[in-house]
Amino acid sequence: MKFIIGNWKMNGSRASLRDMIQKTEKIKTENRVVLCVPFTMLGETSDVISFGAQDVSSHERGAYTGEVSAAMIAETGAKYVIVGHSERRMYHDETNDIVREKAARALDNGLIPIICVGETMDEKRAGKTMDVITAAVRESIPNDVKDKIIVAYEPRWAIGAGITPSTDDIAHAHRVIADNLSYMGLDGTPILYGASVNAGNVADIISIENVGGVLVGGASLKPDEFIPIIQNVK
Ligand code: 13P
Repeated sequence: MKFIIGNWKMNGSRASLRDMIQKTEKIKTENRVVLCVPFTMLGETSDVISFGAQDVSSHERGAYTGEVSAAMIAETGAKYVIVGHSERRMYHDETNDIVREKAARALDNGLIPIICVGETMDEKRAGKTMDVITAAVRESIPNDVKDKIIVAYEPRWAIGAGITPSTDDIAHAHRVIADNLSYMGLDGTPILYGASVNAGNVADIISIENVGGVLVGGASLKPDEFIPIIQNVK
């Protein structure tokens, strides 16, 4: 079973989500299809698609105007939440420590955190990719999470760029993540690849060793792009 997880970021509408739900309702797949949508769109239901949020507060509750707690997300019926997406790390200064706190709140409330790691172009050019990924995996994951989390490798420089790393680069990054997870006693944790995934490249990406699924941004927004992705993951 592979994961096909869409991240709508700050796009879409309730109408476009309902359209996606309707157009995917006849799809047969053995894989797990998830859409992580803006908070305001949570609460829809589908037999094919599970739902998730894109962020969660690191606090349980209280005077944190504008934040949304893991309990509130769970109450909508959502099962997943992305934490530590590179856009949160970049624009909201989220550190590995904050990401770990957020993942812990998600777990406390029965949500599966999708913990994102990945290097910037500057880090890649400086030859730091493996160090950055290793630190992020070691520091962003709470304790005692065997079979309760998903990790996503998203090379930041390839997000929304229409370029994908080489097969060797993806294989190498996923091997490093798998080795770290194994060292932490977390063998079997699904490791998703995300950045410029589309219907044309998904079959090749999914066949790379240690790739347990894909995290899809732009191509998850439209049914005519997302449905072929679901169908091309065998
Ligand atoms: P794109 O698929 O648009 O490159 O976005 C990837 C991503 O950030 C998914 O979380």
